[in-house]
Amino acid sequence: MLNNYTKTYINQMARRTRTDITEMHLRVLEFAFAYYEKNKVGPLYTNIERHTGATKQDIHRLFPHGLNSVYTWIGIPIHSVDDTCKPVADIDVDEYREVYFDHNGTTYLRDEVKPFMEKYTRGDYGHGNPSSSTFLGKNAFEKISTARSEIAASLSVNPHEIIFTASGSEANNLGVKGIAFKYHQTKGHIITTSIEHSSILESVHFLGMLGYEVSFLDVDENGLITEDAVRSALKSNTILVAIMAVNNEIGIINPIKEIGELCKLAEVPFMVDATQAYGKIDLKPKEMGISLMSVSGHKIYAPKGIGALYIDDMYSVVPLIHGGGQEFNRRSGTENVGHIIAFGKAATLARKEIQSEYKRITELRDYFIRQLKEKVPGHIINGSIHNRVPHNLNVGFPGIDSGTLLISLNKIGVYVASGSSCSAGSKESSRIIKALGVDTDYYGTIRFSFGLNNSKEDVDYLFKYLPEIIEQIKDN
Ligand SMILES: Cc1ncc(COP(=O)(O)O)c(C=O)c1O
Repeated sequence: MLNNYTKTYINQMARRTRTDITEMHLRVLEFAFAYYEKNKVGPLYTNIERHTGATKQDIHRLFPHGLNSVYTWIGIPIHSVDDTCKPVADIDVDEYREVYFDHNGTTYLRDEVKPFMEKYTRGDYGHGNPSSSTFLGKNAFEKISTARSEIAASLSVNPHEIIFTASGSEANNLGVKGIAFKYHQTKGHIITTSIEHSSILESVHFLGMLGYEVSFLDVDENGLITEDAVRSALKSNTILVAIMAVNNEIGIINPIKEIGELCKLAEVPFMVDATQAYGKIDLKPKEMGISLMSVSGHKIYAPKGIGALYIDDMYSVVPLIHGGGQEFNRRSGTENVGHIIAFGKAATLARKEIQSEYKRITELRDYFIRQLKEKVPGHIINGSIHNRVPHNLNVGFPGIDSGTLLISLNKIGVYVASGSSCSAGSKESSRIIKALGVDTDYYGTIRFSFGLNNSKEDVDYLFKYLPEIIEQIKDN
């Protein structure tokens, strides 16, 4: 059944396109709406004809832009009047399997972490406010201290150098603005890169609007920020260098230690967004010349909505959230005790498994690449093949719309990410892929990111159906 909002929208669209709505229009729209609700993808012509009697010709006669209009009028995101995307592939799978290849996007809670969350919500740890002097409060405070020590141990830093935040984005904002605001009177120069996460980019743009001088470094042909690029950009008034450790889209690892040494020599604080590196590669800020470093819970199988910022003892930041003075006066607000406990546990597990997981994921990734070479001719892998974490593969498929591929894969249970005109996702990824000089009109790019629950069987499942999907959706 169409809901009232959708009915109103359909009427609006009909008015705008001077379409007289008939019973047949409604039959097609109602079927497509119900189909989308159930399957999360729009129906193809054959399905519509089977269930409503309206042929492809009918649909093009009835609606101003054929199937595109049907989808747009009822809010199916993959087709729009402006973007003429192709219908998704129609594949029958033998044994449906859910395959999650989007660990860079977010992760699930890992099994060992769940009991801690459950205990917290059940009230086993008490419900105390960590700032209260009661036993309940002290108990909560101790739990936070333990988690702080766990995160600190995973980075070989001191516990009081860890500040809990509500996300990686908040940690990035605190790092960048917190340093910059110390120079609010004199301002100064900030160096960052064009491939940062939006929480760094937007913070730096904002500071630019406030009168700070900002430089955005570009990547080299491998997608890396070089030490030389940083060296050339440093000025006598540079107050901050902010560069990510691992890029979220193509998985490259920047030469953080080398850049850290450079910043140390120049006596400029070095802020590293390690959201995608944490738990995947060994990070020792003190040995890498890193002054501030952000991490996030939901990339390491802890809950969403918890992050942390490492701030070296030598540095201080101006808080962004003022209030009761929690988190050593650097970030006020009653702490998210349950999430902090879970984050600490996930960090400990990640630290313990970092080498074995790296090895396992590398083997899985190599197996994936072998399948890709065999089954998908003409593909490209974006970004350096050497300086990268194995957890990520960003693949360009020739003659494919990545949004259509994303939805087609999703239809058979495979979760990936893309930056596409046709998908519901953002266009973000094209920024870095374009910076690599890739012809983004020709190649549809898909990010596969691997993690804890992935196995060889997942890769086999994908490659069992991928060639057929590509065959169905590729441009001729
Ligand atoms: C590189 C990078 N930095 C920061 C963030 C933001 O982290 P959060 O989602 O915890 O705000 C992300 C999340 O995708 C990321 O990939």
